[in-house]
Amino acid sequence: MNRLWAVVALTLLILTGCSSGSSSSAKDGETIYKENCSACHGDQLQGAVGPPVVNMKGKHSEEEVLKIISEGTPKMPGNLLGDEESKIVTKWLMEK
Ligand code: HEC
Repeated sequence: MNRLWAVVALTLLILTGCSSGSSSSAKDGETIYKENCSACHGDQLQGAVGPPVVNMKGKHSEEEVLKIISEGTPKMPGNLLGDEESKIVTKWLMEK
């Protein structure tokens, strides 16, 4: 019986531990990138099918990156994300 309670207590601890801190529904830039962009730009931004997207600050302004992400280019599909997520991932990318 004692062991059962230990298991229950441990499970509760793990569950509450995971849910704390992620209460907001908005995803962070890294999550958005991993889910929508890494297939073409690599999980380390190193590039794959698409070009590397590190040091975008040295190449594009934030507005330009946002435009690329929301409208796409002849080679990159646009409209992958909603407005809010596009902005979040742009901000995140500009810091890389
Ligand atoms: C289907 C593959 C694909 C996906 C998915 C994709 N991209 Fe791209 N991306 C490309 C290609 C290809 C280019 C080069 C476009 C060009 O030269 O016209 C590019 C270009 C870019 C550029 C400009 C790079 C430069 O050096 O000028 C940025 C920034 C970028 N992508 C960010 C993203 C972000 C953020 C996402 C996720 C929301 C994403 N991409 C998803 C294929 C992709």
